Amino acid sequence: MSELMFPQDFLIGAATSSYQIEGEIYNTDWYIWEKLGHIVTGEPCGKACNSWELYEKDVQLVEEFGLNAYRMSIEWARVFPEENVIDFDALAHYKEYLATFKDKGIKTFVTLHHFTTPIWMYQKGSWENKEVIKEFLKYAYVVGRELGDNVDAWMTINEPGVVSVLGYFTGIFPPGKNSVLSTIRVTTNQLIAHAETYKLLKKLTPNVPVGIVKNITWFYSLNLFPLDKYLAWFINKLFNDNYLRGIRTGKLPFSQKRYPGLKGSIDFWGLNYYTHVWISQKLPNMAINHLPNAEKVTQTGWEWDSEGLLRAIQLLWDTLQRPIYITENGIATLKDEERVEYIKEHLAQVLEALKLGIPVKGYFYWSLIDNFEWLEGYIPKFGLAGFDHKTFERQPRKSGYFLGEILKTKKLF
Ligand code: NOJ
Repeated sequence: MSELMFPQDFLIGAATSSYQIEGEIYNTDWYIWEKLGHIVTGEPCGKACNSWELYEKDVQLVEEFGLNAYRMSIEWARVFPEENVIDFDALAHYKEYLATFKDKGIKTFVTLHHFTTPIWMYQKGSWENKEVIKEFLKYAYVVGRELGDNVDAWMTINEPGVVSVLGYFTGIFPPGKNSVLSTIRVTTNQLIAHAETYKLLKKLTPNVPVGIVKNITWFYSLNLFPLDKYLAWFINKLFNDNYLRGIRTGKLPFSQKRYPGLKGSIDFWGLNYYTHVWISQKLPNMAINHLPNAEKVTQTGWEWDSEGLLRAIQLLWDTLQRPIYITENGIATLKDEERVEYIKEHLAQVLEALKLGIPVKGYFYWSLIDNFEWLEGYIPKFGLAGFDHKTFERQPRKSGYFLGEILKTKKLF
């Protein structure tokens, strides 16, 4: 194992998102998607981990594990339950939640959009309608103004490529479309909304860094057929490249028009990294996550590819030289020892990146607690803790304490 150490100011935390843990958010596009029967178990998100009521228990977990940072998201549909209607009680709740972390000296990284969109916006065409930019800005303004004092870093949009490609190209996420044009329209609106939000938050909270969360998935052609190679290239373009290029050059996809303020519109990169995917037009949904002879495969069928993390870090650094936070990395598994191994292997790659001189500033494990894993419902267990689905009692796992130990000693052991 590497003798290298993490810097003194390195952050090690855990991540969650509002919809996946809070429970009872019934006014989003995902609720509609669940009702339409898209979740493998047929089970809706429902009360999730009941974190809306029990958030203090989550704060306690972070503290007990000895972590110094927490990544969470604000639910747009809670803040704006209807168009132009602000719920100040919801804002007060989030204020309290963030203050609890602040009191304990735990840094908060806050995402504004983590997959879910309010029903009223969904009914107007969601991210495909350019009105989304104006509406998202209203939301960002209110959140920035009301919560900014207790936030250590903002992230505008989580995994925009998942929202565009899975929602509008493969159609497995809401709204379930299969159109390249729609996908490009969504990417364009996301990039503009991001650039405008960046400007707005820099004015409202000048001392709080603002980033975007880009997940890098590596796309490989399953075979040498030119059509499959082209498809892998094309999906990479839609999923990764359109965003990276947009932020690097300031140009919007397809039209290649420059959008003022888009170029370089981040103070840091948030990097979510999990795996690679094999592409072929013959496969259902065009992709599989692992080959039959793959050695290490997670509960979600994803292949471990820890070296891919180093390459993803290098890709972001080469695209635009900004500090990098690993905003998500994690494994769904029923064996907690396997989670410990996974964390070790991936953090070793972070140390390699540091050795190369790339400023990786922190690592957030996904996830603090088992939660609603979108199409796969409650089957995958990503958490550093589990929970009892009746009593909602938190069940901390060894991997959580292991992560805390790394933070304390600054090294892998
Ligand atoms: C990415 C997403 O941001 C998060 O919502 C999801 O649960 C994890 N990856 C695991 O799939």
